[in-house]
Amino acid sequence: MINKDKIAFNFTQAQDTYATNAIVQKRMGEKICQLLNLFIQERKLKVCDLGAGAGANLSLQYSKSLTSKIDLTLVDLVELKQEVKEALLNHQFVGDLQKIKADLVLWCKETHKTKYDLILSNATLQWVENPQGLLKDIFDNLIQENGVLAFSTFAKDNFIELKSLTENSLTYYSKEEWLKFLDNAGFKVLVAQEFQSKLYFEVLKDLFSHLKLTGVNNLKTSAHWTKTKLLDFYKGFEQFKVGKHYPLTYRPLIFICVKN
Ligand SMILES: C[S@@+](CC[C@H](N)C(=O)[O-])C[C@H]1O[C@@H](n2cnc3c(N)ncnc32)[C@H](O)[C@@H]1O
Repeated sequence: MINKDKIAFNFTQAQDTYATNAIVQKRMGEKICQLLNLFIQERKLKVCDLGAGAGANLSLQYSKSLTSKIDLTLVDLVELKQEVKEALLNHQFVGDLQKIKADLVLWCKETHKTKYDLILSNATLQWVENPQGLLKDIFDNLIQENGVLAFSTFAKDNFIELKSLTENSLTYYSKEEWLKFLDNAGFKVLVAQEFQSKLYFEVLKDLFSHLKLTGVNNLKTSAHWTKTKLLDFYKGFEQFKVGKHYPLTYRPLIFICVKN
């Protein structure tokens, strides 16, 4: 069972370090924006970013490409940072800004008066226990006819090194599984891309820090680790070493879909 309080705690702790350390998540956001430019000719008016985070990174990236006004709704368990709120409010093409502090899973189940033309989500949906149910709720309750859903998440072999050494991992689904979820929900998929991005660390401690600074605490806290378990983990990780470096493999997935 995913603990939402823990997610909120970890991402609040990481709010000042996330943007500079979440290198792969930034690339994922850039890819979403590039693809949206290819597929969306006219600008969309009502935009919602699910799991926007304290830094609203994807919305900030997306706002750089705007040429006409949007109304923006940001949903997350954590508060939006004040300076980010001000940057968005001062943006010439951001009209109404709504920030909703909520569990996005429950929020998407509600009936909404506003239906969105564009739903964005970057590096978030892997935290959702029932992605198929969520996609159906987005389709039924949140998105306009002909509206676009553009999101990224991670595929099965994400953090493969950690998964093979600990029992403690999120459930990641394959591209094919996501395609099935999207199809079942009613979406037509325009783009489905998977890629791999590896980060390398000089010492394992830096890899652990990287996880913490990006809000990802997949691994149990040190309090749960006996000395022997930790030594086994360090020893086990040696098999993945590339030269002198310790790799961490990200496997992002990007989807652009339409409701029609
Ligand atoms: C990796 S961050 C992504 C932040 C941002 N979207 C970006 O572009 O980098 C994941 C975000 O999802 C949020 N999140 C995870 N589960 C959530 C839930 N059930 N409801 C709302 N937000 C959630 C976390 O609080 C965190 O801010």
